[in-house]
Amino acid sequence: MEFETIKFTKEGFVGKLTISRPKALNALNSQVLDELSSAIDQINDDKDLRVLIITGEGRSFVAGADIREMSTLSALEGKEFGNKGLSVFRKVESLKIPTIAAVNGFALGGGCELAMSCDFRIASEKALFGQPETGLGITPGFGGTQRLQRLVGQGYAKYLIYTAENIKADKALQIGLVQEVVSVDELDKRVDELAQKIASNGPIAVRLSKEAINTGAQVDIDSAIKVEEYLFGLSFSTEDQKLGMKAFLEKGKADFQNK
Ligand code: CAA
Repeated sequence: MEFETIKFTKEGFVGKLTISRPKALNALNSQVLDELSSAIDQINDDKDLRVLIITGEGRSFVAGADIREMSTLSALEGKEFGNKGLSVFRKVESLKIPTIAAVNGFALGGGCELAMSCDFRIASEKALFGQPETGLGITPGFGGTQRLQRLVGQGYAKYLIYTAENIKADKALQIGLVQEVVSVDELDKRVDELAQKIASNGPIAVRLSKEAINTGAQVDIDSAIKVEEYLFGLSFSTEDQKLGMKAFLEKGKADFQNK
């Protein structure tokens, strides 16, 4: 994949997408969003990949949507720009394989929203989170008003959005916005370790689990457990189910075949 503002690398079963506009602290302009969209489509079609890591180059994860580009938008253009970001992040959230946000620095506005579109977030001690949009006279527009409240509850979501206050990694951990905080030097190693762990489990089972969690979160509990029942049953149609259970009974570890 050849892009100007993002980089994609692949090692074994693990892919890594790096937002790479370090001079603007990886701010998301239309080009970054278009390239991200195209990369996610290609990643979704790659049958060998089992996990995707999303991170930022340099001292920032993503410092938000590009304020320079937004500064001259009309209402209609603003709506279109919002629609572009929302569509791309929905694509990230709906990717078949799990995604881990490796938050190395600023995750503000659209950056926090990108991290929240991933399945979970590991932060370095230097990471900074926030939805500073109201301080710019706009509302969060790439999912912040919706995903933040789902992750941390309405109280903290409203607190962060109304005050436009940024929070450090330890506070983000305390409110459940991130799952783990590690030192700057350890971030890549820890995220890779988690990615390898996920990749070593039954890949179809992992993907079906993601589908069950994401679908179930949007429907009532009776419909949700029906989704679980169906996908649980479906996992028994795989060769990996046979391999996984046979390995357990023989006290070994299965070499899952993604079949
Ligand atoms: N858009 C455009 N450019 C940005 C940017 C952004 N979101 N964030 C940083 N940059 C640029 C700066 O303009 C600066 O460029 P120049 O060197 O050309 O002046 C460069 O990146 C480095 O930034 P700073 O000099 O400001 O670096 P700093 O270390 O002093 O501060 C920061 C870092 C606290 C992250 C600060 O840059 C900042 O506050 N950035 C904006 C954060 C923000 O408000 N994000 C939300 C945007 S709105 C949004 O995302 C809407 C939405 O929901 C979709």
